[in-house]
Amino acid sequence: MTNAYQALKLAQEQIADLESQLLKRKLRATESPCDTKALVDGRELKAFCSNDYLGLANHPALIQALAEGAQRYGVGSGASHLISGHSRAHELLENQLASFQKQHIPNARALFFSTGYLANLTAITGLARLAPQKSTSIYSAKLNHASLIDGIRLAAAQTQANVALFDHTLLNTLNELLKTDQHPLKIIVTDGVFSMDGDLAPVKELLKLAEQYDALLLVDDAHGFGVLGKQGHGILEQENICSDRIIYIGTLGKAAGVSGAFVCAQATFIEWLIQKGRPFIYSTATPPAIAHTLSKSLQIIGGDEGSKRRTQLNKLIRIWQDEMQFSQWEKVSSCTAIQPVILGSNANALLTAKLLDDAGYWIPAIRPPTVANGSARLRITFSANHSEADVCQLIDTLKSIEQAVIQKVSHE
Ligand SMILES: Cc1ncc(COP(=O)(O)O)c(C=O)c1O
Repeated sequence: MTNAYQALKLAQEQIADLESQLLKRKLRATESPCDTKALVDGRELKAFCSNDYLGLANHPALIQALAEGAQRYGVGSGASHLISGHSRAHELLENQLASFQKQHIPNARALFFSTGYLANLTAITGLARLAPQKSTSIYSAKLNHASLIDGIRLAAAQTQANVALFDHTLLNTLNELLKTDQHPLKIIVTDGVFSMDGDLAPVKELLKLAEQYDALLLVDDAHGFGVLGKQGHGILEQENICSDRIIYIGTLGKAAGVSGAFVCAQATFIEWLIQKGRPFIYSTATPPAIAHTLSKSLQIIGGDEGSKRRTQLNKLIRIWQDEMQFSQWEKVSSCTAIQPVILGSNANALLTAKLLDDAGYWIPAIRPPTVANGSARLRITFSANHSEADVCQLIDTLKSIEQAVIQKVSHE
């Protein structure tokens, strides 16, 4: 049995163990707004690590909208949505979000959440509860985000759902699994853009399988909403697909620049989540001022400014793809603002991040369990607020660091 004193000792030992494996994580507090430059530990660093892909997190119109929202609605919602926390600002935002997906999901309705983590927990557990115990089969892409994995684990614990993993680059295996599956309810769950690799899920092919085997398809487009598609509506727009079996999740703390998330699906599914989605029901509503700010952010995303920002982002991605092809570092084939450089060991990743920090850059090392063992990496991300010169300078710095790291490793 573990008593409280032993628990404390165990925590100390396990933290020391993490440190010895170079896996201990550290918090760093910034003293500046989220933008392409960050004031950290008294130094100004060039940041290539946020998910603020469109550069909206510090946008004057959104700062003004937040102030305006606070004047109109105060700073807190005071209760969960079903008690008294649901405001007109939430309702307007949900209508706007649904209209972004209406060409891709018939009879679309959207439900707003305070975080993507909560949206994923609610959607997956809520859908699994549509079928009796042991009647659901959930297929999860191996590289799915932790919040999807945790949603699936919770759904499996609550409903004894069957869970199987699939490789999103080898859909034959998924096809074989679905072919023999006798569970009445099947749900395929995938990231739209894989968060640590930057590549896209084959959503068209997944939808075909969902149709063939009568499954639902849940797409978490946290890193696609705002940036993919001509109007920034996300991966469903980019891939030009439409189906009432799609459950779409978008997050609003990344390209949208604020915070929160939404589930968009055909209206009956959303009504079900309102009735039975426990993480939604039992959590205080996000301040309405945030919803008010997000409405402004959606106007920017869907308008000319959003378009210009996406064009700039795509220009930066192309510069990176052209200039980095000569690097010996392993890269992942990604056409998005997420461009990982795989360094392998934790030691290599930490050394490279440290050399970058010395050169004035903030790009933290990403290590297990966020990525697989032996695939520690830099997760480089671009923002529309970066200039072409910013990206070229980063590439020059990386090239010189690459030589230094290769020489160091070859001497060891
Ligand atoms: C793919 C994916 N889904 C969901 C989330 C969770 O979203 P949030 O940060 O709003 O909780 C993240 C966040 O990092 C993510 O990358």
